[in-house]
Amino acid sequence: MKAIVFHRYGPPDVLALQDVPVPRPVAGEIRIRVHASTVNRTDTATLRAHPFFARAMTGLLRPKMQTLGMDFAGVVDELGDGVLEFQPGDRVFGLSPDRFGAHAEYLCLPANGAIARIPEGTDFDAAVVCEGAWYANSTTGLLEAGDTCLIYGASGAIGTAAVQLARQRGAVVTAVVGSRHLELAATLGADRIVNYEAEDFTSIGETFDLVFDAVGKTSWRACRPLLKTSGIYAATDLGPYWSNILLSTWSGLSGSGRVRIPFPDDAPGFVRHLAGLMADRKFSGVFDRSYPLDDIVAAFRYVETGQKTGIVVINIP
Ligand SMILES: NC(=O)c1ccc[n+]([C@@H]2O[C@H](COP(=O)([O-])OP(=O)(O)OC[C@H]3O[C@@H](n4cnc5c(N)ncnc54)[C@H](OP(=O)(O)O)[C@@H]3O)[C@@H](O)[C@H]2O)c1
Repeated sequence: MKAIVFHRYGPPDVLALQDVPVPRPVAGEIRIRVHASTVNRTDTATLRAHPFFARAMTGLLRPKMQTLGMDFAGVVDELGDGVLEFQPGDRVFGLSPDRFGAHAEYLCLPANGAIARIPEGTDFDAAVVCEGAWYANSTTGLLEAGDTCLIYGASGAIGTAAVQLARQRGAVVTAVVGSRHLELAATLGADRIVNYEAEDFTSIGETFDLVFDAVGKTSWRACRPLLKTSGIYAATDLGPYWSNILLSTWSGLSGSGRVRIPFPDDAPGFVRHLAGLMADRKFSGVFDRSYPLDDIVAAFRYVETGQKTGIVVINIP
């Protein structure tokens, strides 16, 4: 099969399209013929082993996994022994957060993993929606109905999902985006939209139960005036000088819990939840552009600009 392979950490040029053996599902696994995947910020960070300490999980000197790709959508084509959850021919989508491997024609995963059937009427390339939404959900899960939240960077994969998931939880959402994404934020259902290029979002005269930096471009210090007395600041990134790591550690130790870097968990449960929202038309991905598998280096380069809108799709016809 064709797969995108890398044997050392580095820039997108270390990726190569190669012929590798088609994997066989072992007991409890299914094999999926992958039709669509994505290049996301987890892929780009893993490719470069950034931050450095991530090597503890991905391989100290060289990558443990040779093929990236967390998001997948495709068709079940072979079952390992004992699999009852799926049948060959099922159209499925989901996440491969531990093994990656979706930048390839075939992928084997545990049948009880983060896999769900693609809702009726959804194409493969509209079903690769999980990575940003999974990260977003770990923060929007802090919200109760009626809470107010501000989502900074509501145009990225995490931000676009966060607006939708926060609305699903009954929160009142203020989305902060640049000029070119004002219309998008309205489409996603934001109650208030602030253009960070036209005004200082920290001086909008409102306070929030949750301020979520979904794009790693602000800080606890800048956002503090926006928080209610017991309000929470959450971020997806390390922050300036790793301040988010230090502050979230201190905030955990002191019991205040006011600064957090929420880590996503329960990928299987989340993918099934997302499938339900998609089937009910309560969640849909925001897609920027698509690349064929053999042009994946260009996709990585584009995602690394930090300028994508939502999700970048890889087609594997
Ligand atoms: N914790 C983790 O394990 C983890 C996993 C995945 C991602 N991340 C981090 O999470 C962040 C978001 O990931 P993502 O995939 O959602 O990002 P993304 O899709 O790459 O975000 C790009 C978007 O951010 C907007 N943006 C750029 N500069 C901005 C600024 N100064 N203020 C507000 N918006 C700005 C861009 O539009 P405009 O430039 O037009 O505004 C663009 O639409 C990344 O920083 C990534 O490193 C963390």
